[in-house]
Amino acid sequence: MTTITRGGIVTGWGISVPDKVVTNEDLSVTMDTTDAWIRERTGIRERRIGGTTSQLAIEAGVAALEKAGRRPDEIDGVVLATTTPDQIIPGTSATVQDGIGVPSGAFDVNAACSGFVYALTVAHGLLAIGAERLLVIGSETLSRITDWDDRSVAVLVGDGAGAVVLEAVDGPGQLLSWKLGADGSLRHLLKCDHGGFLYMDGREIFRKAVRVVVESAEQAIAEAGLTVDDIDLMVPHQANLRIISAACQRLGIPEDKAVVVIDRYGNTSSASIPLALVDALETGRLEEGHHVLLTGFGGGMTWASAVLRWGG
Ligand code: ACO
Repeated sequence: MTTITRGGIVTGWGISVPDKVVTNEDLSVTMDTTDAWIRERTGIRERRIGGTTSQLAIEAGVAALEKAGRRPDEIDGVVLATTTPDQIIPGTSATVQDGIGVPSGAFDVNAACSGFVYALTVAHGLLAIGAERLLVIGSETLSRITDWDDRSVAVLVGDGAGAVVLEAVDGPGQLLSWKLGADGSLRHLLKCDHGGFLYMDGREIFRKAVRVVVESAEQAIAEAGLTVDDIDLMVPHQANLRIISAACQRLGIPEDKAVVVIDRYGNTSSASIPLALVDALETGRLEEGHHVLLTGFGGGMTWASAVLRWGG
């Protein structure tokens, strides 16, 4: 088990998604695709499109602060996971720090779709060395780097943000274990060059994603001193419902323990895990004492799993 002398607990959470809903039917008007294909192959029904990464992050962050009952001046840092920054320089976290009015450090984490779990892990490291409260956000506007004539990518993506307030506690806190992984020799599978559009080798990513999610989840569960039967809820990256199903099956976790929001939001990269986590909290699926597995994968390739015991 991870040895943590000063851990963290999530005390607030919030999301922001653009108002504009784009359905599969809408997409089938402008490109050669159908609602049936998209639903059957991905589980997506609709997605939200619009806004900027900083604007969505600010809105989600403000909602999380409100839920935690904290003022911006009580926050010691902003850790923003994003793969779609507003600009190359500065980091989008700077705009978010200014927009929310947090008088402290701010930095971006780019680990593609694994970004939120990376950011949450890094934030726990900051708590361990003295930070009191942090805002951890995943925010994306993948629609801005999407070629809307390329059906192989366009049907998958959506925009949105999710945020949590993480507060220090003496003792281990919620995080029981974490596992971060990367294999840069696979970076050609999913990429976006400067000024270009998102490209992915969907089939190859699918295959690799299931393997790395299963491996890292098994390692994180074991390091937490648990077995799969102890996992009450799984909050996976929302890239494809079939990837979630395959991972559940191989892990031996019943599918009804997996939180699914891909039907409403599509793939929102590093926002997808916090969007799903907040959905579980708002619908009462995640309760005090539950063991929750967060697990994701993405460009790099990167992957990340963490096990938390909720409450505290
Ligand atoms: N509508 C209709 N037909 C389509 C579409 C579409 N949007 N896209 C592809 N097709 C066709 C193909 O041309 C192909 O036709 P063919 O059999 O005549 O050649 C057929 O459908 C099957 O295509 P596949 O690529 O084999 O479809 P697959 O079942 O693999 O699904 C998908 C494709 C959804 C992309 C899947 O491979 C996947 O989800 N991969 C993982 C994606 C992922 O996780 N990406 C990482 C995160 S994304 C990010 O980081 C932003």
